[in-house]
Amino acid sequence: MRDFQVRPALRVSGTLSVPGDKSISHRSLMLSGLADGTSEVTGFLASEDCLATLNAMRALGVRIEQPSATQVIVHGAGLHGLERASHALDMGNAGTAMRLFTGLLAAQKFPSTLIGDASLMKRPMERVAKPLREMGADVRTHDGRPPVEIGGGRALSGIEYTMPVASAQVKSAILLAGLYADGVTTVTAPAICRDHSERMLSSCGVRLTTEGLRTRLYPPQRLAPLRLDVPGDFSSAAFFIVAALLGAADDGLLIRNVGLNPTRTGLLDILRSMGGDIEVQHARTSGDEPVADLRVRASALKGIDVPPELVPLAIDEIPILFIAAACAQGETVVTGAEELRVKESDRIAAMSDGLRALGVTHEVLPDGMRIQGRADGNAFGGGEIDSHGDHRVAMSFSIASLRAAAPILIRDVANVATSFPGFGDLARGAGLNLTELES
Ligand code: S3P
Repeated sequence: MRDFQVRPALRVSGTLSVPGDKSISHRSLMLSGLADGTSEVTGFLASEDCLATLNAMRALGVRIEQPSATQVIVHGAGLHGLERASHALDMGNAGTAMRLFTGLLAAQKFPSTLIGDASLMKRPMERVAKPLREMGADVRTHDGRPPVEIGGGRALSGIEYTMPVASAQVKSAILLAGLYADGVTTVTAPAICRDHSERMLSSCGVRLTTEGLRTRLYPPQRLAPLRLDVPGDFSSAAFFIVAALLGAADDGLLIRNVGLNPTRTGLLDILRSMGGDIEVQHARTSGDEPVADLRVRASALKGIDVPPELVPLAIDEIPILFIAAACAQGETVVTGAEELRVKESDRIAAMSDGLRALGVTHEVLPDGMRIQGRADGNAFGGGEIDSHGDHRVAMSFSIASLRAAAPILIRDVANVATSFPGFGDLARGAGLNLTELES
């Protein structure tokens, strides 16, 4: 088993760039694989999750070159050019890959089976299977979970679907199936969720309209290839944003080239309401996505009631928000985050276990947490944490070392490689005292 040992550190400083965005990297492979012609993607996230998508696209007959870890050249097979895979497609830990592929493969002429690691095999898949069946697809789950078995060979019809949860994965799966449907596909979300699929589909020339929470897709004849530079992943930057708020040296920490898609940046609004000093510099666009550099300075945080409408815009950042809340003056309350129960781990339970081990007073709520922060002295004791195999839990507790009284041992951190290869090196470069151990 791989573990992190983090010893108390006081300061982070300097300049860093985080690896490419995971959501965009998955989608870039899928859409460029369906395009007519050759696409080039730079800044690609070569993490285990995205490599699962890359291997699956290859197994479906798409020729992909990877001249360097972060550069991929995809020779698109065309909308109707995918071929039957000779084996079950293994999505590893990647929920995004499994849900998006379910939509894409539901529309193919051939059957497919999707499997994953122990965590993914427990995650809910009916949320995508149900609307796809309404479109006419043959999609089977086992008690609502993987393996996902897709019959293929069905003609799909466009539907009007209102999602019960604000899920970009569900929305994207339906839109991917909608590329092949007879008629228009309309998806309505109960709240804003990330819109990378819509932006990228538009870049490929697909006609899409968005009115408020409703997206309409008109089936295209073909997809144009992509030329894309993937921005740094805001969800990865989030660990260093909080690290700098807790303990940046005088100049702050500069994080370059961070994707600032407004459907992803709820954490910025939340941390600013808590008193966080985060300056957006050189705001620009890269392809379809807003990008900027962030200068983050040490700040005295205060606890707040997090507005529930910001939660879907910060859903992957709630674990690191809990760490910030533990270091804020007063109480922070997060509600409306029940989706955290069905992520790579039950993130409310996993974070609660770790906070308890480090002596943080908190109360678990069905859909969130109430945390009593400690802004003076050390918010955390030392101790041993189980990451529950969840990359974001492991990285969150690494950042706690900036306000810890004693070393923290974080067990079972191999999954950090699913989203953030090189996290340990970047964290050490910024000033954290992190050692990677094999136990
Ligand atoms: C993602 C959507 C979110 C997010 C996940 C990536 C995506 O999941 O938590 O890490 O790339 O579409 P949900 O769609 O389940 O909210």
